[in-house]
Amino acid sequence: MHFHRYEKYWLIFGLCTLVVFLTIVGVNAFSGGHQPPTGMMTLDPTKVDQTPPFDQPGLKKVDDNTYEANLIAMAFGYNPSKIEVPVGAKVIFNVTSKDVVHSFTIPGTNVNMMITPGHVNTSEFSFDKPGSYLVLCNEYCGSGHHMMQMTIEVK
Ligand code: CUA
Repeated sequence: MHFHRYEKYWLIFGLCTLVVFLTIVGVNAFSGGHQPPTGMMTLDPTKVDQTPPFDQPGLKKVDDNTYEANLIAMAFGYNPSKIEVPVGAKVIFNVTSKDVVHSFTIPGTNVNMMITPGHVNTSEFSFDKPGSYLVLCNEYCGSGHHMMQMTIEVK
């Protein structure tokens, strides 16, 4: 087979570019300990009720201005279905699912997590305004999906 000289150069140039590109993508994807931001903690989804902190779901005070909300998502609701948090406090949401994929979404905030069984999904938020905040499920999870919600009372 006969290549024109420039054709050969461009072919080599193209191959080199591809190698450089794949190397950059590969190095970025797998180096530096990159991990998804949540879902690093795992648990047995069939034993959620026996696994701390989900054996005692609800709000737990960590320090003066920090709370942990350990919540269980399931078809079709959250346990507990209502929590009360102080205005301005930092709330760390730890949410897991007992069955299928759900979401934990607080409209109007940046809290929007996919809740996957077998994982503890974590997000933080401080409610600066008092009020009643609705938490919704954004992932279709079955016949009762549209009714799946809980309330956060901020006082
Ligand atoms: Cu849970 Cu949709």
